[in-house]
Amino acid sequence: MSIQIAPSILSADFVNLERDLKAISSADLVHVDVMDHHFVPNLTLGEPIVERICQVSDLPVDVHLMIEDPDRWAPEFAKLGAASVTFHMGATHAPVRLARQLREMGVKACFAVRPAEPVEPLFDILDEFDMILVMTVEPGFGGQKFLSNQMGKVRRLRDRITELGLPTRIQVDGGVSVTTAPVVAQAGADVLVAGSAVYGAQDRAQAIDSIRRAAQG
Ligand code: DX5
Ligand code: ZN
Repeated sequence: MSIQIAPSILSADFVNLERDLKAISSADLVHVDVMDHHFVPNLTLGEPIVERICQVSDLPVDVHLMIEDPDRWAPEFAKLGAASVTFHMGATHAPVRLARQLREMGVKACFAVRPAEPVEPLFDILDEFDMILVMTVEPGFGGQKFLSNQMGKVRRLRDRITELGLPTRIQVDGGVSVTTAPVVAQAGADVLVAGSAVYGAQDRAQAIDSIRRAAQG
């Protein structure tokens, strides 16, 4: 499956969001991090801004919910025009019910695990999700160091998805750069989120291209 690059606007300039969205038009998705000061110790943006991003973005919008009670809130974000909505294992009570609800709304359902959370509990419900997100940092902030010890999880997930013949994508988020992109791609990830590696570069298009090439080997 082809590699997709998803720049995270967490590292963009929030007062120049439209400009910074246009700068990543060569990417495949735009990754939007929603944080609530409870599930993670940071606060970013909510429904009104996500809605405007969905309206002006030329790319499909990938909403990463780092919030408590996604069972209650994820459908609200799905209504705003997002292509995919990701919610966390550590926050949901009924992941299968929520995934089905999102899919019925025409939105891709994605499930995320933090570094200390296992992927094996997902092995029998993988067909309920379009994408699994393996966090390669503790969620909450951009610019953290990549956790290479998460690659075993990515490999085990990839093997299981292949065994089942599913189209499920594997996303990695946190510390993805030109250096770590080959590592995650070789482990079996095919959607690479990159915040500081894209928005920290002068030329964002070139940064996207470099990460893509590095991942493709
Ligand atoms: C962190 C967010 C990430 C963040 C990644 O909790 O989920 O999407 O923006 O930033 P980098 O690529 O700088 O690690
Ligand atoms: Zn994210």
